[in-house]
Amino acid sequence: MLQKPKGTYDIYGKRSLMMNYLKEVFSNLIDKYNASYFETPMFESSELFHRGVGETTDIVSKETYDFKDRGDRNMTLRPEGTAGIVRSFIENKLYAESLPLKAWYMGPMFRYERPQAGRYREFYQIGFECFGTYDPMMDAETISIVYNFFNLLGLKGVKVNINTLGDKESREMYHKALMDYFKPYLNELCDDCNRRFEKNPLRILDCKVDADNDFMKCAPRMTDYLNEVSREHFSLVKNYLDAMNIDYEVNSNIVRGLDYYTHTVFEVVADIKDFGSQNVLAGGGRYNNLVENIGGPSVPGVGFAIGVERLLLALEYEGLDNIEFNPVDVYIFGASENEKEYIMKLANDLRGNGFKIDVDYESKSFKNNFKRADKLNSRFVIIIGEEEVKTKILTVKNNKTKEEYKVNIDELIKFLDEKLGDFDED
Ligand code: HAM
Repeated sequence: MLQKPKGTYDIYGKRSLMMNYLKEVFSNLIDKYNASYFETPMFESSELFHRGVGETTDIVSKETYDFKDRGDRNMTLRPEGTAGIVRSFIENKLYAESLPLKAWYMGPMFRYERPQAGRYREFYQIGFECFGTYDPMMDAETISIVYNFFNLLGLKGVKVNINTLGDKESREMYHKALMDYFKPYLNELCDDCNRRFEKNPLRILDCKVDADNDFMKCAPRMTDYLNEVSREHFSLVKNYLDAMNIDYEVNSNIVRGLDYYTHTVFEVVADIKDFGSQNVLAGGGRYNNLVENIGGPSVPGVGFAIGVERLLLALEYEGLDNIEFNPVDVYIFGASENEKEYIMKLANDLRGNGFKIDVDYESKSFKNNFKRADKLNSRFVIIIGEEEVKTKILTVKNNKTKEEYKVNIDELIKFLDEKLGDFDED
């Protein structure tokens, strides 16, 4: 039997309901922030991610799905959403419009990682990016969106961790301090970290292989190398979070796995032991140089992405995933083959008036049809026979109470509207 590729999954049943639900809740919420929905291609030129996400990151050096298309171009399945949105922002000259511009997206991302619970090779992100303001208000607003979204969903056991990576000047001083610190340990660091040492020593702090070495725990901290501007920026972000009553902790170990961040970075983690390192439900931060690095003007950005599968696991863990398919309003079947045309018309009219309808396509027995109506949790059943077609008086059966009503076809919509209202009140 042909099987799905390793690290992927199919979306159907409860998972599809939950994903649609998350998209709906998020799109309603994000509209309040005046953000607009974006979709960008699932593959882009490989160069975009090399320049955007960064050559020394695990994502680009080990995890991308790269291929040559038939025109011999180097292409990559997007490992994340930010680089594509930035490319779109530049290519469509959106920077010439009124800024700040807020964008959101939901779609699949691809990373060649070792699959396990909460870690897939094709996974979904819900993301947000805002372009055009250096103001720390926007860092705090960005964090507040994730916080408010998780609150709306009812999640309790989540924590917001924030940190700052400072501006370019602070970063350079910090890089130097890290190089001085790690130099004596080069023999003990893994091969990747030896490469990172030269190109981007900050990445060493993010290494999964070397994480448990004692000397990692005593490495210099960014907070000790922040210049005045960076310190002030971070301090204002915290003030604004306090003003919105958002709980957070400053955690100086957060460096994030992508190269583009400046100033504020944050992660939202679920307090669930079994999740291991998959407990990071969302991550993001400010990226003041990314637009320019990808070839655009100097426009700052800030954003986040939420891992949908991990969010679903957390919701399930807290028992917040009890949504069910909407029941069918009316199930219609015929007493014989002869009523099929009439049923087609009736179902079409009722659907056009907003009712959820299912019908019997195969002229099954009464018994089978009532079984199917029960299975679909249908609220009403209508059986069409010769008599009904002739008299225009239909028998409408409440499938729960088994009560029967005689309803003139011209009164049917009004009747269903009223009676279905009673169900909603139950
Ligand atoms: P990221 O931290 O690489 O950031 O990913 C964001 C979230 O995607 C993670 O916190 C996690 O929940 C989820 N995720 C990542 N990899 C996987 C995987 N293999 N399987 C399942 N879920 C995964 C970014 O992608 C940035 N673009 C976020 C951002 C937007 N920063 C600024 N703007």
